[in-house]
Amino acid sequence: MKVLIFETEEEAKRNAASRLLRQVQLSPSSVLGLATGGTMEAVYAHLIQMSLDQSVSWSGVATFNLDEYWGVPADSPASYRTYMNAHLFDHIDIVRSATHVPASDGRDPRDAAQLYEDAISAAGGIDLQLLGIGKNGHIGFNEPTSSLSSTTRIKTLTDDTRRANRRYFDRLEDVPKYALTVGIGTILASKECLIVGTGQDKAAAVKAMIEGPVSAVCPASALQMHRNVTVVIDEQAARDLELIDYYQHVHPAGQEADLFDV
Ligand code: F6R
Repeated sequence: MKVLIFETEEEAKRNAASRLLRQVQLSPSSVLGLATGGTMEAVYAHLIQMSLDQSVSWSGVATFNLDEYWGVPADSPASYRTYMNAHLFDHIDIVRSATHVPASDGRDPRDAAQLYEDAISAAGGIDLQLLGIGKNGHIGFNEPTSSLSSTTRIKTLTDDTRRANRRYFDRLEDVPKYALTVGIGTILASKECLIVGTGQDKAAAVKAMIEGPVSAVCPASALQMHRNVTVVIDEQAARDLELIDYYQHVHPAGQEADLFDV
C-alpha cells in the first residue's frame, strides 16, 4: 500500500481529485469506479474545477458506482444516482448513459447484481476504483464480516452506517436497511484502488485497514491483498498508525516525486 499523509483534509481531497483527473488525462476512455458520501463531495468539487480549468473531457469515460440503497428510486433526492448527478455528472461532459449506479428498483436483487457484474466485465473491468472508508472499516457497503471474495449483492446496513447517512434523509427511520453493493472481490479485481479517509473519526478504521490483520471484521483490510492501492489520508485519520514516521519518511507531506512524471 502506498500511504500518503497530508497535513489537512483539504489537501488530501485535492490530491485524490488530482489523481482521478490524471487518470482521465492519461487514459480518456478510462472505466472508473466511483463512491458517494461526505468525503467525496469535496473530492468531486475539486475534480469538477480541475476539469474545467484544464479543459479535460470526460466524453470517453465510463463510470460504475459502488452502491445504491435498495428500494430508493433513482430519481429520489436521497438516491446515490441523484447524488452523483448533483455532485459530478451534471458538471462535466460525461455521456450520461456511460454512468452506472446499481439498480435499486423492485427487480430480483440477484438479477440486478448479476447484471451489474456483467456490465462491469463488458466494459473491460474497472481501471481505477475510488473508495471511501466507513468508521467500521466498510468499503462500498460491504459491512464487517462481508466475504472478502464477495461480488455484487444485497447487504444489510449496520445501524452505525444508517446513522452516519441519516443526514441524507428526513428521519433515521427513512434510511434504508439494505443496499446493493459491489463486493470486495469486485473491488479487488479493479486494476488500481484509491481510498480516501479524513478526520479522527476514521483513525481506527484506517489503522485496521493498513496495519491490522487481513480480516472480514475490517473489510478495507482486504486492500492489503491488492497490488496497486494508494491510501490518501489527513493527519487526523493517520494519528493511530504505528508506522506513521515511516510513511511520512517515504512520502513527505504526502508527496511522491513521480506523480506527474508518468
Ligand atoms: C458510499 C461508499 C461508502 C462511503 C463510506 C464513507 O458509496 O462507498 O463506503 O465511502 O461510508 O462515507 P463518508 O465519506 O460519508 O464518511
